[in-house]
Amino acid sequence: MPVLRKPKNGKRMENKLDRILVVDDEVVIRELLYDVLVDEGFAVDLASDGRAALEMISEEPRYVLLFTDIMMPEMDGIELIHEARRIRPDLVSIVMTGYATIETARAAVKEGAYDYVLKPFNLSEIKLAIHNAMDRRRLAMENMRLQELTELFHISENIASVRDERELFNFVLNAALERVSAVRGSLMIVTEDGQQLRVASSRGLPNHLMGSVVNIRDTISGLVARDVRPLLVQDIRDDPTVQQRSQHLKEISFISVPLERKGTAGPYTSAIESTYPRVLAVLNVTEKADGSNFTESDLKVLSIIANHSAAALENVRLFRDLEDTQREIVYTLGEIVETRSKETGHHVKRVAEYSRLLAEKIGLPGYEAEIIRLASPLHDVGKVGVPDAILNKPGKLDPAEFDVIKGHTTVGFDMLRGARGRMLQAAATLAHQHHERWDGKGYPQGLVGEETHLYGRITGIADVFDALGQKRLYKEAWPVQKILDYFCDERGKQFDPALVDIFFANLDSILTIKAEFPADY
Ligand code: C2E
Ligand code: SIN
Ligand code: SIN
Ligand code: FE
Ligand code: FE
Repeated sequence: MPVLRKPKNGKRMENKLDRILVVDDEVVIRELLYDVLVDEGFAVDLASDGRAALEMISEEPRYVLLFTDIMMPEMDGIELIHEARRIRPDLVSIVMTGYATIETARAAVKEGAYDYVLKPFNLSEIKLAIHNAMDRRRLAMENMRLQELTELFHISENIASVRDERELFNFVLNAALERVSAVRGSLMIVTEDGQQLRVASSRGLPNHLMGSVVNIRDTISGLVARDVRPLLVQDIRDDPTVQQRSQHLKEISFISVPLERKGTAGPYTSAIESTYPRVLAVLNVTEKADGSNFTESDLKVLSIIANHSAAALENVRLFRDLEDTQREIVYTLGEIVETRSKETGHHVKRVAEYSRLLAEKIGLPGYEAEIIRLASPLHDVGKVGVPDAILNKPGKLDPAEFDVIKGHTTVGFDMLRGARGRMLQAAATLAHQHHERWDGKGYPQGLVGEETHLYGRITGIADVFDALGQKRLYKEAWPVQKILDYFCDERGKQFDPALVDIFFANLDSILTIKAEFPADY
């Protein structure tokens, strides 16, 4: 039978909704664990066998931790864990067992138990195991929330909702205030020169502040932007430097976090990074609804929100860029479609997808991989300048003809170099450089190694992989194995070795893309 008892007041209150279920056939141990855990501030229920425990688990949704003996009559602890997880997959389990059965304990961990403690146990060991398990659970919950946030911001699934910068700012500020139960706050945007902050969204602040601009040197937000460091002030009176910068803060506790542009994960530097301020904006919150001070965990929540907001903001700006330049692109593309050779078809689409994949996998931030995806279809745009008789010649080119073809790189570059926007700038670069080679024997400039811009190296690989796999007027399609052999041979000669490695590491995805877009002929 279930043994239910009311918890007495603990020293430290854990989340009131969280309960621990202790299962042991020995009453002495049950009672002992009960006292220890209640003393630690947990709400605890007891069960004397597996059946009773399962019954309780199916009726009580608040259990977060199952603490069970292994050796019990009828149903043992391992079976209990197994069954319990079918009812509640997120239930964290700890098993206890004697030294003689330590192998069984390890088996339980394999079955999904989070940890085990050996009998006879000392109390600090138990407390530690429980707190570890609770921490892990909190972490898992935090991750779930993080995923929810990621989904909220996922650009490709809901472009419309983040298309508008203002809408994003309001959304972020409201989400932040709500998550930390704050009443007032603001989101301040760093201006393009990095010198000023503009109030982009605010709540609980005087209306006239909206849109107002402050110098980055004078404010708390400025400090946070300059140092790229979040600030949690529990009591401003303890911190004179901060207090000095506070102009209209009457509260004593607040949090201020930077929205930091994502760096690159790989060895390559983003081409965009160096030219724009690193901190995009600063998120400020103050005044807890219940009058208490902000905590470390509030800071953590806001840092997560700030991270995701920064990524979302980059995406919004990318799309704004795109809108600005869309007319130019459409015009340019229209020109190509009219003039270009017969092989276009899906070639540019595949090259775009391969390029995006390589960019992402080499560690460029998502928005930059997206820029490359959008820009790479323009890599051969300069072929509009190549006479049809050469471009569509059904056989080998003579050297003079090939020289004309080589001109498509500089022609493309000249077409695009004057265009505004990051995407068309990227397109200009990769149109210019996609036929350069790692060993310096490429054209038009004979650049060596990393002298060729990363965009050029990426699209270069994508272009050749695709060209080899397709039938052309001058050649048959190569079988995949022959292409892969070619890539091995040309690693460090024609191609950047690091990119070839990335290529092979992601071969499955590459071949999926190849299969997705049918051949041109
Ligand atoms: P493309 O057909 O899009 O080919 C792009 C790149 O893929 C080529 O750049 C080359 O690096 C690689 N590639 C394509 N086919 C082969 C091949 O059979 N063997 C090897 N080893 N690599 C290959 P590349 O060579 O600079 O050529 C640039 C463009 O010039 C080609 O674009 C194509 O439009 C044209 N072209 C090149 N050779 C010939 C040719 O013999 N006849 C004709 N009609 N056009 C050619
Ligand atoms: C800010 O972070 O700049 C707002 C605090 C203030 O100066 O009132
Ligand atoms: C050039 O190589 O001259 C322009 C392409 C680039 O921006 O790297
Ligand atoms: Fe080309
Ligand atoms: Fe091409």
